[in-house]
Amino acid sequence: MILKVGLVGAGGFGSIHLLGFSKNSHCELVAIASRTEEHANALSEKFNIPKIYFGDEGWLKMIENESLDVVSICTPNYLHAPITLKALENNCHVLCEKPIALNREELNQMESLLNTKDLIFFTSFQKRYNPTFKLIKNILNEGILGDITLVRYYFSHYGPYKSWRALSKEKWFFDSQKAGGGVLLDLGVHCIDILRSLFGDYDKVVGFDSNTTCIEMEDEDNCGVLFRFKNKSTGFISVSWCNEPSETIDIFGTNGFIKVDLSGRNSPSFGPKELKKNQKIKKLLKFKPSNEFAQDKLIDHFINCIQSGRQESPNFDDGRKAVEFVLEAYSFKK
Ligand SMILES: NC(=O)c1ccc[n+]([C@@H]2O[C@H](COP(=O)([O-])OP(=O)(O)OC[C@H]3O[C@@H](n4cnc5c(N)ncnc54)[C@H](OP(=O)(O)O)[C@@H]3O)[C@@H](O)[C@H]2O)c1
Repeated sequence: MILKVGLVGAGGFGSIHLLGFSKNSHCELVAIASRTEEHANALSEKFNIPKIYFGDEGWLKMIENESLDVVSICTPNYLHAPITLKALENNCHVLCEKPIALNREELNQMESLLNTKDLIFFTSFQKRYNPTFKLIKNILNEGILGDITLVRYYFSHYGPYKSWRALSKEKWFFDSQKAGGGVLLDLGVHCIDILRSLFGDYDKVVGFDSNTTCIEMEDEDNCGVLFRFKNKSTGFISVSWCNEPSETIDIFGTNGFIKVDLSGRNSPSFGPKELKKNQKIKKLLKFKPSNEFAQDKLIDHFINCIQSGRQESPNFDDGRKAVEFVLEAYSFKK
C-alpha cells in the first residue's frame, strides 16, 4: 500500500524528512504546508510535491483537504502538539519532531487521543539509529564494564543559526513562546532519550544549572543536569549552543570505562588496558561511521511499523519522557 504523506514545516529539518520519505518506495509526497509561500514552494519544487499550503493555518487546511495517511511535523516546537492533535483526529499516522510538546497538558491531550486510535506515532529521535549506540549496547549487555556507576553525555554546537541551518526568518528558536525552552529542550531531549535507551529510565533530576552567555535570548544557551537512573547510577547531561560542535558519551563501571566521540573524529578511549582483548570493545574501536542518514532509517522504520500495524520505539512514551525530563529540570529554575 502506498501511503500519502503531507509535511508541515518547509525548513531545515523538513527537507531532511522529505529526503527520507522520497527514498521510501511505499510513500507518495502529496502536499506540503509552511508559514511562507516562498519556503513551501522551494521544497515543493525540489521534491516534486504537487500541492502547497501556506500561512499560519495552512496546515489545518492541508490536513482537512487532503486524504493523508501520514503527517510529518517539522515546525517550531509550539505547533507540534496542535498539529499532532489535528492529524490524529483525521486518522493520520504521525511522525513528530522533538520536543513533541511544551508542557504536561499538551502531552496528556496527545496521549488521550492517541489511546483512542489505532495509529502509529513516532518521535523523531533519529540518533537512536546511529550504529555506535548498538555497539555500546552490546558492550553493556555483556557486562564488560561491570556495574555502571556514572554516565556523562556532552552535546554542543554554536546553535541553530550557526552550526545548524534553521531556515525560518522568524528565528523562533530564540523565542521562548515558540521554542518553549532553550538548549536543554533542543539538544537535551536527544541526550536523555539515548541514555534511557542504553540504561533504562531515569528516576529523578537532582541538580540543575544553566546560563545565557552567547545568544541574546530569554532561555538558557548552556545547561547541565545531574540526575539518577532507576538502577541507581548517576547521570550527567551537559548541552551548549556556545561551543565547538562536539558530542561525546563517557560510561564508567566497576570494571572499566569507555569514552566515545560520537562524531567519529576521535577513536574511543577505554580502560583498563586489558579491555582491548574483548571482542565487543574491538568492534567499537574498529567502527567507522558511514554517511548513511539516520533520519532515512527512522522513516523506513516508521513506515514499516505503519504497514505492519506495530507500534515500536521511538514512540509517544519516549517523546513524553524526554519532555518530562526537561520540565523536571526546568522546575529547578523557580
Ligand atoms: N531530530 C533532530 O535532530 C532535529 C534537528 C533539527 C531540528 N529539529 C526539529 O525540527 C523542527 C524544525 O526545526 P528546523 O531546524 O527545521 O527549523 P526551521 O528551519 O526554522 O523550520 C521551521 C519551519 O516551520 C515553518 N513554520 C513556522 N510556522 C508555521 C506554521 N504556522 N505553519 C506551517 N509551518 C510553519 C517555517 O516556515 P517559514 O520558513 O516559512 O517561516 C519553517 O519552514 C524543530 O522542532 C526542531 O527541534 C530536529
